[in-house]
Amino acid sequence: MKVLTVYYSMYGHIHQMAEAVSEGAEEVKEAAVEMRRVPETLPESVLGKMGALEAQKQFAHVPVCSVEELASADAIIFGTPTRFGNMCGQMRQFLDATGQLWATGALVGKVGSVFASSATQHGGQESTILSFHITLLHQGMIVVGLPYAFQGQTRIDEITGGSPYGASTIAGGKGERMPSENELAAARYQGKHVATIAAKLFK
Ligand SMILES: Cc1cc2nc3c(=O)[nH]c(=O)nc-3n(C[C@H](O)[C@H](O)[C@H](O)COP(=O)(O)O)c2cc1C
Repeated sequence: MKVLTVYYSMYGHIHQMAEAVSEGAEEVKEAAVEMRRVPETLPESVLGKMGALEAQKQFAHVPVCSVEELASADAIIFGTPTRFGNMCGQMRQFLDATGQLWATGALVGKVGSVFASSATQHGGQESTILSFHITLLHQGMIVVGLPYAFQGQTRIDEITGGSPYGASTIAGGKGERMPSENELAAARYQGKHVATIAAKLFK
């Protein structure tokens, strides 16, 4: 049973969350877990102006995903930073290249799940995840979130991401806040939860 964690990260927040999601999925013994980045669409000159080049070195080793690879997975867990309350353009462009997979029903019945990051606490994490689910449903995927069985999402003693829709982190206006222990625990839980469901479906 194969689980793919497919993500875009500009400054490393989603990358850290993707590692935690993958660690969680690896706890399920039937799962072979791989991490992939979606292709960059911005030129280096723009990434430089956005202050992203240094951070991106941390995950340059993660292979870039091809659209065809999606068809080989049983479960796909997508990670995206929020852009104006939606997924980022790099992820949108990647998904918009899956028309052939849609036409052949290649993703029908696979498990799909989403995690996110935004600069501000109420800056659109939930809308990013929920609007991403629309694409997964068009592809015929079985959408899985982050159940309240992960009790860390109920805590109010500290500021935290995480909702029933999926794990998330709050990056701060300058990207100065990295995922907290609670947010990473949510990501691990989601990875394990998805892999557990996929293991039952795809014995
Ligand atoms: C064009 C653009 C739009 C953004 N829109 C939002 C937004 O709507 N709400 C928000 O809280 N953060 C927004 N952000 C901040 C990003 O979500 C933040 O940089 C990201 O979550 C950090 O994750 P990463 O390091 O994995 O890229 C935006 C950033 C950019 C560059």
